[in-house]
Amino acid sequence: MGEDPLYERFGREFAKGQVLFREGETGKEMYVIQSGKVRISMKVRDVEKTLVTLGAGEFFGEMSILNNKPRSASATVDEEAKLLVIDPKTFEAMVRGNAEIAVRMIKKLAQRLQEADDQIENLLLRDHNSRVVHFLTHSASRHGRQTPDGVAIDFTVKELAGKVGLDLEPVNDVMNKLIRSRLLKITETGVIVQDVSKLREFLEFLEMKEKFGDI
Ligand code: CMP
Repeated sequence: MGEDPLYERFGREFAKGQVLFREGETGKEMYVIQSGKVRISMKVRDVEKTLVTLGAGEFFGEMSILNNKPRSASATVDEEAKLLVIDPKTFEAMVRGNAEIAVRMIKKLAQRLQEADDQIENLLLRDHNSRVVHFLTHSASRHGRQTPDGVAIDFTVKELAGKVGLDLEPVNDVMNKLIRSRLLKITETGVIVQDVSKLREFLEFLEMKEKFGDI
């Protein structure tokens, strides 16, 4: 790491638990993660909700620099981290001087917007079963890993519950139903969706039920 000229110039180490900035503050820097993990969170009705946990290669804190607006969320070190801390002038010079950086950022921002759209769609579903199944089908097709048993997705039940706006109990109930129906298998790091197209069919069925009721 010592030989990396970017790290020599902008690198800093942060301990677990350190708050990098809080929602509402003025943004003075953006960050690129070299190693470790950073949690982005937002206060909703006095409860701190995790939006996303970011890892190596990802960046954050660019929004307030680009828009000149207060921080849209808070950032806390979740796992000891080495970060590049970049001031607005350097950031602008980097983007202007290197189209590759700009293209990578646009792609990442488009991905973030797509994830936010998926979440909006999910939260508009009224039925608990539909929200959990919608999360699973979308995560399987966006971030799933193919394995001999099906498509593996990594998450904790707590993360899933946070994303779909439900408590742990209803989420566990739905997951157990899916396991009993052999649509899902629990693994050490998350779940395996045994047959994504079957799960998608089940979601369509739930959506029809939501639309037309139990007739
Ligand atoms: P900024 O508004 O400067 O400070 C909070 C940062 O969190 C924001 O910039 C983004 O970099 C990041 N952020 C906000 N919302 C999301 C999201 N939904 N997914 C990933 N990162 C986000």
